[in-house]
Amino acid sequence: MSDIAKLQIGESTYEFPLIKGTENETAIDIKTLRDTTGAVTIDPGFKNTGSCQSAITFLDGEKGILRYRGYAIEELAEKADFLEVAYLLIFGELPTEEQLNKFYSDILDQAIVDDDVKKILDAFPKNAHPMGVLSSLTSALTAFNPSSVNVDSEEDMYKAIVKIMGKFPVLVAWTLRKKQGLPLNYGSRKLGYVENILTMMFQKPNDEYELNPIMINALDKLLILHADHEQNCSTSTVRIVGSSHAGLFASLSAGISALWGPLHGGANQAVLEMLEAIKADGGDTKKYMAKAKDKNDPFRLMGFGHRVYKNFDPRARIIKKAADEVLADLGVSDPILDIAKGLEREALEDQYFVDRKLYPNVDFYSGIIYRAMGIPVEMFTVMFALGRLPGWIAQWREMRLRKEPIGRPRQVYTGYNYRPFVGKINK
Ligand code: CMC
Repeated sequence: MSDIAKLQIGESTYEFPLIKGTENETAIDIKTLRDTTGAVTIDPGFKNTGSCQSAITFLDGEKGILRYRGYAIEELAEKADFLEVAYLLIFGELPTEEQLNKFYSDILDQAIVDDDVKKILDAFPKNAHPMGVLSSLTSALTAFNPSSVNVDSEEDMYKAIVKIMGKFPVLVAWTLRKKQGLPLNYGSRKLGYVENILTMMFQKPNDEYELNPIMINALDKLLILHADHEQNCSTSTVRIVGSSHAGLFASLSAGISALWGPLHGGANQAVLEMLEAIKADGGDTKKYMAKAKDKNDPFRLMGFGHRVYKNFDPRARIIKKAADEVLADLGVSDPILDIAKGLEREALEDQYFVDRKLYPNVDFYSGIIYRAMGIPVEMFTVMFALGRLPGWIAQWREMRLRKEPIGRPRQVYTGYNYRPFVGKINK
């Protein structure tokens, strides 16, 4: 194949170089398009537009492949732990034991939040959605840590990274504790990263919290599966906000808001609510399948379909198996799991879903595990954010280290042409 793309506009032909990725993906480099042709491209939802070159995550939606820094998601979920994966994503290589210990010790040094943050949390109503609270608190961290990161200094960058890796789980736990009216607490240096998350979330003020290895493993796996997913909506948000040289915490806070939507991370909450509604309605999955296919009905089968996967989401396969195991291990029997499996079976055989290549995505089964772990439904997307944190950090860091220009798309204007001002109010 030639390494040139040709574009004809009217009588003129223009040539643009092709760029090849390490997995042979091809992109047309149109950096000079507007300068040479006067035209721009239009691509709503960026379905065909690569916003950057990235060495972090590889995803092949047709084959159902997901790899972080070259490692298959299946192997990472099986053999690595979340903090190791976080280090891998952010710094590019798996850590040695020494590097990991130092990373965690530095994170623990930062795992304290300014006490005045409690006042902000206090001002939120108890029924506020935890994602709104988490986004606000993350943004508030900028006020308590006002010095901007010097991205040319690895040390400065590292400090900002361990700071947010330390403080974020505290904020996550506090959003839950606020909702439940529990006193705000902290983790312990004696516990691992995931153990601390569970302890901070679930410890009662009058009791010891007994860590359950099943819960630790399940959460570890879920966080790994959510840790990065290349240029999705929230990650693109983090990169684009960061491209204006806004700080890391401000960029992350914007990413959390983007994740909240039900078409993105908010789908895990929406899936569980949908399954509950089907159960309350007598468990008639066929009725909901029909609604999902009806173009006059806004209902969509939540947890199905993906912008990039046109095959099984590999994360969904792992989570489905984990849901079976976790429920059995915890001795929980959840009728919702049967409804989910029934829906999946029907959808995979239904022509509408087959034609559109709609398969279960990562959110379809994750809520069932979260619920079995005792995590309230409104916290599901917060758990997604906790997992995605290292991915957002890695993408933000890569964007700044590569000195990417400010993200600023073009548009095609479709409004009025010039019209002279004639006031509508008599003066
Ligand atoms: N139920 C019914 N129909 C669907 C669904 C669904 N879940 N998803 C897509 N379709 C149909 C859609 O109506 C369209 O049909 P037609 O071609 O006849 O107009 C076709 O499939 C293509 O859909 P699209 O909306 O153009 O595809 P997209 O790439 O813009 O959207 C999506 C991808 C994930 C937003 C969408 O599949 C969806 O809304 N799914 C439900 C929400 C969900 O589970 N989101 C989690 C995504 S994975 C985790 C994450 O990103 O955080």
